[in-house]
Amino acid sequence: MGKSHLLGESGWLATVLCFFFFLIACSAKTPQHKDILFKQLILHHTKVLLGKILRTTNNSSALGVQLQITSNQVVIDNGLVRVTFSSPGGDVIEIKYKGIDNILEIVNEEDNRGYWDVVWNRPGEPIIYDKLQATDFSVIMENEDQVEVSFSKRWSPSMDAVPLNVDKRYIIRRGSSGFYLYTILERLEGWPDVDMDQIRVVFKLHKEKFHFMALSDDRQRVMPMPEDRLTGLPLAYPEAVLLTNPINPELRGEVDDKYQYSCEVRDNRVHGWISDDPPVGFWMITPSNEFRVGGPTKQDLTSHVGPTVLNMFTSTHYAGEDLNTEYRNGEPWKKVLGPAYVYLNSISPSEDPEALWEDAKEQMSTEVRSWPYNFPQSEDFPSSHQRGNVLGQLIVRDRYINERLMHASFAYVGLAAPGDVGSWQMEAKGYQFWTQADRKGIFSINNVRAGNYSLYAWVPGIIGDYKYNVNIIIEPRSKIKLGVLVYDPPRNGPTLWEIGIPDRTASEFYVPDTYPTLMNKLYTNHPTDKFRQYGLWERYADMYPKNDLIYNVGVNTYVQDWFFAHVTREMGNKTYEATTWQIIFELESVSQSGNYTIQVALASAHMSELQVRVNTARGDPHLFTTGLIGKDNAIARHGIHGLYWLYSIQVPSSQLLQGNNIIYLTQSRSNSPFQGIMYDYIRLEAPRET
Ligand SMILES: *[C@@H]1O[C@H](CO)[C@@H](O)[C@H](O)[C@H]1NC(C)=O
Ligand SMILES: *[C@@H]1O[C@H](CO)[C@@H](O)[C@H](O)[C@H]1NC(C)=O
Ligand SMILES: *[C@@H]1O[C@H](CO)[C@@H](O)[C@H](O)[C@H]1NC(C)=O
Repeated sequence: MGKSHLLGESGWLATVLCFFFFLIACSAKTPQHKDILFKQLILHHTKVLLGKILRTTNNSSALGVQLQITSNQVVIDNGLVRVTFSSPGGDVIEIKYKGIDNILEIVNEEDNRGYWDVVWNRPGEPIIYDKLQATDFSVIMENEDQVEVSFSKRWSPSMDAVPLNVDKRYIIRRGSSGFYLYTILERLEGWPDVDMDQIRVVFKLHKEKFHFMALSDDRQRVMPMPEDRLTGLPLAYPEAVLLTNPINPELRGEVDDKYQYSCEVRDNRVHGWISDDPPVGFWMITPSNEFRVGGPTKQDLTSHVGPTVLNMFTSTHYAGEDLNTEYRNGEPWKKVLGPAYVYLNSISPSEDPEALWEDAKEQMSTEVRSWPYNFPQSEDFPSSHQRGNVLGQLIVRDRYINERLMHASFAYVGLAAPGDVGSWQMEAKGYQFWTQADRKGIFSINNVRAGNYSLYAWVPGIIGDYKYNVNIIIEPRSKIKLGVLVYDPPRNGPTLWEIGIPDRTASEFYVPDTYPTLMNKLYTNHPTDKFRQYGLWERYADMYPKNDLIYNVGVNTYVQDWFFAHVTREMGNKTYEATTWQIIFELESVSQSGNYTIQVALASAHMSELQVRVNTARGDPHLFTTGLIGKDNAIARHGIHGLYWLYSIQVPSSQLLQGNNIIYLTQSRSNSPFQGIMYDYIRLEAPRET
């Protein structure tokens, strides 16, 4: 409010004063001296004057942005926050804020506080962590309102580094309690083959200060110290540790695992930590998902013990190697990751620390409203007038659900690289633009970068994936009106019965309590996130020690009786056995007019094979198998889903009986406790009436 007016006024005053100082400078002895004196005077007094005007009429936060460059450091200070970067490497090594000299972990080396990294490998070779150390520093923009700096590196074959040109950018603006970061990564045509499984930015905070972590309204807690993980007992994999001797005795007996704090891309907009003394918050705000991978349902890490704050731009978490992170045959690539906003806030010691979280959420909304930002200077980051929109309405045609056309209520509709139906969840190179339609299926995808896309969608409550049949070419200021689009989901005949809700998760099924000795207390009495407890895969064998799950259609309910994950059973001595679930159902008569269909939607698969038999037990040839699928690791990492898989399985009527029938579902691969699948939804369809 009134800011531009204020600046206008100070500009006018500065002009008057410049003239005044010019008169003083004229009295200097030599022309050179005159010149220097003149410049110094103007600079100094303009700054003082601007500062004073803004301080008295606005507040102290409105000091101009100052840039200070030395041989090995770059410091940017706007009076609210002072950020120091290593130069030319381009790591964030110090953040001074509200009486804390360094928000970051001072015990750590300078390259282990605030940095970018890429996990990469040459095909078939071991993985390498590359911290993207830059070799060149330059000032992109410098004035009192904004400073943008660049730490860059050009790759050459003689370098032992990931084959990428790197341009790490940082922006500090006047009156902004934090800083913006983004990075432009580029590989040119003909560069060597690589895999790039993970690209992220990491901040490690001062561990004596930051003890409370928050990632949503109902996922926040006092966290263990990093030392607690060293004194604790590692569980089935190193990330999960039982805290046997934590510094904060109240945490004794709890499990800590960073994967318990994962979140879906569509919800990953703000997370971070709170320091108790002084009460200060450090937040990672990501106003757009356009530069993330795998679409809105991809899950990833957020913050975790360290205290660590991540922004995951690419990773194979909860997707595995099905996510395409391979660059082959000299494929060129360029992508802008970010900008994201590192936001700091504070309150007086008498206020409730919760106010810091509330304020961080408000700031997140402010950032989302200002997206796409108009202030980053890279021409690789298009502003709003260089982007386009796509509008339309999606409806669903499935006459076995409803004779009439249905609105695709709250459908997820997105643009991603051209590909097959559903390919967006494996896509990790381009930009993706997703929105959620309204109750009537009306959608508007805004601020799309120019490019060539397919339009994809999926509808909560409806199986399968939609893809629009022509590619969408977005140009600057495009406003593409697609009108009404019709989705015909997979369907061969009327529903005889169904298990679950087609929503791409297993959350509606039975999720057991974990062992009292393996709890994360955040998730006690937490019905929506109960699946994030450690060790639930073992609970299956407790409940079904010998005989596997049997589900009687019409008798059982999936909420009570369908275990959320189809896992292996431990036989002792680290051996595991495959398990076979049964669905028992009755047919009054068997139609001979065609095949029956079992629609099986999976919410996750990890090194698994689902075999389906009808009325013949295991050992006999199967009617259908998925073959070996999946590497999303969602069972071990407490995801309630990984990637989505859909199978329409034909059952010849000759295999069905009047009266009782049994479908046998065998997950046949059994080398580990983490192998298994999660069902999303199962439906039996009769043949289409003729
Ligand atoms: C868009 O991409 C598709 C698939 O890669 C390609 O066939 C098509 O020619 C492209 N269209 C334009 C205009 O580039
Ligand atoms: C467990 O494995 C060990 C080592 O392979 C073997 O010596 C032992 O006999 C096994 N115990 C059982 C009960 O199978
Ligand atoms: C019925 O299912 C069988 C076995 O899956 C398949 O071979 C056959 O083609 C199907 N028939 C029709 C009409 O779809």
